[in-house]
Amino acid sequence: MRPLACLLLLAFTLSAQKPEYDFYSEARGKNPEQYAAEMRRSGIAASEIARRLDLLQHHRPLLDADRWDRFYGSSTSNYNRQPNAFLAELAPTLKPGVALDYAMGDGRNALYLAKLGWTVHGFDMSEVAIGLARRRAAELGLRIDATVSTDAAYDFGKERFDLILFSWSMPLVDVRKVIDALKPGGIVVMEFGAGFTGRNGMLRLFDDLLIERYEIRRAMSDFYDRRETQVFRLIARK
Ligand SMILES: C[S@@+](CC[C@H](N)C(=O)[O-])C[C@H]1O[C@@H](n2cnc3c(N)ncnc32)[C@H](O)[C@@H]1O
Repeated sequence: MRPLACLLLLAFTLSAQKPEYDFYSEARGKNPEQYAAEMRRSGIAASEIARRLDLLQHHRPLLDADRWDRFYGSSTSNYNRQPNAFLAELAPTLKPGVALDYAMGDGRNALYLAKLGWTVHGFDMSEVAIGLARRRAAELGLRIDATVSTDAAYDFGKERFDLILFSWSMPLVDVRKVIDALKPGGIVVMEFGAGFTGRNGMLRLFDDLLIERYEIRRAMSDFYDRRETQVFRLIARK
């Protein structure tokens, strides 16, 4: 990358990270009471404790978006920058249509599909991730519709998509929104690792669809330090 582009990227990245959310890395995953007790023991002011607890209890998406902004803004973040391997195995066998990339991250999969001739829509809560996706699309001369949005706020519409991709993501909204957004005959393609749902949770999510493929295998995770883990994969058709 050229020096000016590096500087612009750094400025953009820093502006998207909020120092007032720095505490989230230590608070995440803790029970709020336990975290409040820890803060009191460390001598943190009551007003600051109240501010943090309010954010944790009522504004979690803001904290999560900032966390992912930091992740995508750091050049040392360890994730697969190539298209997801399951998608890359499947996509060449499909006729291009209209796809939705759910929580698309930096667009590695959206851009791959666009290159194959798909019309691609996608969204992600991270401004930094969507910024990267848009910039790469411009560099590659590809068109994708990439929106900064949480899944809760995204307008999925009805019968719009031939393919809905969940790559290392899962629906946090009512799954009926996803199923309604698929065209009849459209497919859900999903991959994630152990810990996203309980045993066979992926199957149960799409029980209303025809499960065409479901597998669990040892493979390298695309995220979370790229370690060997159980990887779950599914194709389900409406
Ligand atoms: C593990 S990454 C996967 C990114 C992408 N699907 C890929 O495979 O490269 C998870 C992504 O989900 C996004 N995300 C998490 N919760 C979200 C939500 N509620 N709404 C929208 N995006 C969300 C994060 O910003 C992050 O980019």
